[in-house]
Amino acid sequence: MRLILVVCALSSAWVVDAQLLRYEGKIHFGTDGHDQQPHSKILLGSDGHDQKPHGQKLLGVDGHDQRLHSQALLGGDGHDQRQHSQALLGADGHDLRSHGQKHFGVDGHDQQPHGQVLLGGDGHDQQPHGQKVGNGPRELSHTHMFKGFMKKYNKAYNSQSEFKKRFSIFRQNLKKIHILQQSERGTAKYGPTKFSDLTEHEFRRMLGLRPDLKPTLSQMEPAEIPSEEIPSSFDWRDHGIVTPVKNQGMCGSCWAFSVTGNVEGQWALKHKHLYSLSEQELVDCDKTDEGCNGGMPENAYEAIAKLGGLETENDYPYEAKDDQCHFNETKVKVTVNGSVELPQNEDDLARWLVKHGPISIGINANALQFYVGGVSHPLRFLCNPKSLDHGMLIVGYGVHTTKYLHRRQPYWIVKNSWGPDWGEQGYYRVYRGDGTCGVNQMATSAIVP
Ligand SMILES: *[C@@H]1O[C@H](CO)[C@@H](O)[C@H](O)[C@H]1NC(C)=O
Ligand SMILES: *[C@@H]1O[C@H](CO)[C@@H](O)[C@H](O)[C@H]1NC(C)=O
Repeated sequence: MRLILVVCALSSAWVVDAQLLRYEGKIHFGTDGHDQQPHSKILLGSDGHDQKPHGQKLLGVDGHDQRLHSQALLGGDGHDQRQHSQALLGADGHDLRSHGQKHFGVDGHDQQPHGQVLLGGDGHDQQPHGQKVGNGPRELSHTHMFKGFMKKYNKAYNSQSEFKKRFSIFRQNLKKIHILQQSERGTAKYGPTKFSDLTEHEFRRMLGLRPDLKPTLSQMEPAEIPSEEIPSSFDWRDHGIVTPVKNQGMCGSCWAFSVTGNVEGQWALKHKHLYSLSEQELVDCDKTDEGCNGGMPENAYEAIAKLGGLETENDYPYEAKDDQCHFNETKVKVTVNGSVELPQNEDDLARWLVKHGPISIGINANALQFYVGGVSHPLRFLCNPKSLDHGMLIVGYGVHTTKYLHRRQPYWIVKNSWGPDWGEQGYYRVYRGDGTCGVNQMATSAIVP
């Protein structure tokens, strides 16, 4: 049951991939008149209207291009988010304005004003855009990228067939990166990361949040939300209660890292001493959860209370694999005597965070495998907020304002457990305020005495 759920969540996110394969090279505008051909599933309209075949005249046959576009595509200043007029482009002439630097046309043609009809006034949208497709140069550039990736992350494969297999996965992943990037609504950059040679299945094994292990009758107390005013940004890393970024390795123990991060903060705030606490103790000794096969923060708080506390990272070091429990009560440094469940309202989460410290969360990890930096705001159907599969720790929040267009991008600062060479020195920034990727769905904290 659980496996099926997980697999479904993923395949719905990436089912488009097969489509893209079929339409390889025909994804954007431009090259070879492909905008006159049917689009693949993913581009343009957020509500799927671009999944319908297009007619001869570039945009949608039945007027669907007159509907609102999603944020990510086309015009740099958000003008494609506005309703289009009959004549396809912007109702109020917004498509007549020049595009920003970053979009589409290679030779600056997107920076020219659009004419009245369809896309570019002088036919420039029918000219080739961006990267050339076609297998020759593309193949070369992929090989080049893969070699760069291997070098950067010190990858070595022990046979030619393994190399080939990993290269092929890498290339598949470039397509996923492309999908994420094209549909991104925030400022996030997606690209090759140290996980770019892993299949979805392999990547999934190293997450480890297991909502199915949640007790049917949850006993968590609801948290009390403080009513004080809070600043527009806040970061617990500036207050000495967050340990350096750790690395769970190829073990589905995210839940344990999420919990130690939370307990470290709770303890430091209350007792003015920051300990780095043991995840391995939870992996080995919390029998309600399943070690490297995953677990739930909610269970772990209780396990810590039952065991009698947590040892430090030094006393019970991390091994990234399941092992015998060798908990030694005399080494306990920190105890827990309860836990609370936080509300889903993200303003309330922020209020609680400022007063009480970092928050353990569950999240959908679909945008994480290739996250490089920025404020991540993937389309909902690429990051289902109801299928949480990864545990992390919110340590702060802020608002980013984009440089030219002054779009507000509120975000959470989230500590991950994939080492400092992932994301923004080990951290993820995810859009705050609309439940992106389920960031607000499973927020909890331990209570320490
Ligand atoms: C537990 O730790 C103490 C030192 O803190 C040590 O003396 C004792 O031998 C340990 N017990 C076991 C069973 O390892
Ligand atoms: C937790 O510990 C504190 C301090 O010892 C105590 O006052 C409180 O009642 C305890 N809470 C629970 C739920 O045991």
